[in-house]
Amino acid sequence: MTKITFPDRFLWGVSTAAYQIEGAWNEDGRGESIWDRFAHTPGRIQDGSTGDVACDHYHRWPEDVAIMRALGIPGYRFSVAWPRIVPAGRGLVNQKGLDFYNRLVDGLLQAGITPLLTLYHWDLPQSLQDEGGWTARETATAFATFADVVSRSLGDRVKHWVTHNEPWCTSLLSHQIGLHAPGWQDWPAALTVAHHVLLSHGLAVERLRSNAPGAEVGIALNFDPAWPASPSAADYHAARRHEGYFSRWFLDPLYGRRYPADMVEYYIQEGYLPQGLAFVQEGDLETIAAHTDFLGVNYYTRRVLRDTAAPDNLPQTVFAAPASEHTAMGWEVHPESFYRLLNRLHFEYLVPKLIITENGCSYLDHPDENGRVADGRRIRYLSDHLIAVHRAIQNGVPVAGYFQWSLMDNFEWALGYTQRFGIVYVDYVTQKRYLKDSAYWYRDLIARNGLEQYKSDG
Ligand code: FCB
Repeated sequence: MTKITFPDRFLWGVSTAAYQIEGAWNEDGRGESIWDRFAHTPGRIQDGSTGDVACDHYHRWPEDVAIMRALGIPGYRFSVAWPRIVPAGRGLVNQKGLDFYNRLVDGLLQAGITPLLTLYHWDLPQSLQDEGGWTARETATAFATFADVVSRSLGDRVKHWVTHNEPWCTSLLSHQIGLHAPGWQDWPAALTVAHHVLLSHGLAVERLRSNAPGAEVGIALNFDPAWPASPSAADYHAARRHEGYFSRWFLDPLYGRRYPADMVEYYIQEGYLPQGLAFVQEGDLETIAAHTDFLGVNYYTRRVLRDTAAPDNLPQTVFAAPASEHTAMGWEVHPESFYRLLNRLHFEYLVPKLIITENGCSYLDHPDENGRVADGRRIRYLSDHLIAVHRAIQNGVPVAGYFQWSLMDNFEWALGYTQRFGIVYVDYVTQKRYLKDSAYWYRDLIARNGLEQYKSDG
């Protein structure tokens, strides 16, 4: 066993999102969000559930903060619900909504926990959706005003800000694939949304800079690194295109490279950009490329791509190992992709600082008769991924923190309560929390600022 130690002041934390844990969907003046509407629409959520109650964190947050404190977790990433603060999306500010997050932030600081606040984790006010949602350019300005309201209230105490969580999900997953709210299947709309989300990020950065001086600001992107299934040229191109679709479309404009030319050409050819990049107005690309202090990295799995349409793409050696492990989400466990991704972001995109804003796994382990939740597979997943992070740091990749997804089991979007990502188990009937084995393991890891290298052969 080798001891692995992380850099001094490495920020360890756990992550959550408002709609997935808060509940209290119509309390204290909160407006309706697109996720309320979506979850209340029959057929949208796998188990027919909603986030109406979720983990009841809105009422139980002191207990949740106490759990983090007891585990010695130094950082907490959460998101604020836009419709709780500005119920109609623009205009009237709901003081009770702001009060809630002020109490939470104060509670965290009293517990010695550094807050990292995400402004948008998908719960757009429904009234804005009624006006076109993110397809409307005005939604970007409404978001900037919302960022202004939140940072005026919390900017004196919150020193880490994420504007958006996973713009790929907000745009493509929600408007092209249609699996997330608002559930559209419309390519041109999805690409318009992507642009307005990126624009709103740039506009919000300006507001955060003035209201939270000295704070660190970033955006969190999700990555599922693409691997060609075989050495064929067709599979290579399929993988390259997937990365264009999933990450380069966001990463390139954010880092001043504009939209990737190969993807623009492809989208025009397919009819996905009927008016080309007409949604890009003068100055937008400069706004989007606003300087940020860190990039938030959400990583869970990789994707293996095979071009089945190419006639000459004969089956060759397929790299996807049949013996690969998969989590309850069906996601392949592949820490090597995490390692490569971190290197690429720093050495290719020259990202000056990275914070892992999400990494974790769903396994359906339940409490035994003594209340113990033996989630050894999660411990192993997290260990292996942290070893990958550590290897990247050894190469010189500036990773400044790691936020495990998630503090507790919660509403997993279109999959409802069928998945459990937490290091804390939630019984949704009693709302009782049980610390899983991984919670104690994470506590010890944080206390030692490192771990013993896990030997998979026993
Ligand atoms: C990410 C989301 C997060 C959670 C995890 C499993 O895409 O940001 O809210 O659902 O996946």
